[in-house]
Amino acid sequence: MRHPSPAGPGPAVQVVAHRGASADAPENTLAAVDEALAQGADSIEVDLQRTADGQLVLLHDTTLARTTDVARVLPDRAAEPVGTFTLAELKRLDAGSWFGPGFAGEPVPTLGELLARVGDRAGLLIELKDPASYPGIEQQVADAVGAPRADVAVQSFDHDAMRRFAAAAPDVPAGLLFDSRPTDAELDAAAAVADQVNPSFRVTDAALVAAVRARGMETGVYTVNSGTDLRRMIDAGVHRIITDVPGVLRALLG
Ligand code: G3P
Ligand code: CA
Repeated sequence: MRHPSPAGPGPAVQVVAHRGASADAPENTLAAVDEALAQGADSIEVDLQRTADGQLVLLHDTTLARTTDVARVLPDRAAEPVGTFTLAELKRLDAGSWFGPGFAGEPVPTLGELLARVGDRAGLLIELKDPASYPGIEQQVADAVGAPRADVAVQSFDHDAMRRFAAAAPDVPAGLLFDSRPTDAELDAAAAVADQVNPSFRVTDAALVAAVRARGMETGVYTVNSGTDLRRMIDAGVHRIITDVPGVLRALLG
């Protein structure tokens, strides 16, 4: 284990806004970040990719088609991967109108813009999205978030990338995402590199949370939105819940 977590019950469940408060504002934009802060999120989850000219930007999908107006602005390139666009090209796009007219003109933010907007008002949970497409992104992110700053963690489904990130940033909490229930062997391996095991809530129960905790790590489950599921995860003893509706979870926690 890298940064041992207390063996006993931890503090209150942390509220993590998934892609910002993405039920109420367009995901991975500063509008969604502002909404997450307004709803009382402890931390904000974002997805990170890299532009053709090396800038770190907040985007979830492989292409821009779903969450921007790329088909209107650059119609020939709508199906191209994010990493083929420069930051200047991305900044021409509207990442808000797809969600609602009130968000027209909302830009694709950079990691630097996110850090500046959040400051020390909340934590960040940064997901390296498809890091295999962005060689060296682990060191780049380590350099960007390595300076002392409260409560930044980095996670990915790509566990090899997280091994590289953990080596580059030994002081930054590292999380491994799992879409299926991790085996004991996978948890043993995770403990060598990670501080957080972050599985889908669908495969998570109290036994898994205890197995993670016994290995000195924490559990953050994604993406939990219904009252029933939120309550089940609270009762399972998870450390943090990643949700599109941080205000709902905040209210439930009292
Ligand atoms: O934080 C974990 C969760 O965000 C992973 O799924 O597809 O929403 O990035 P996805
Ligand atoms: Ca994510």
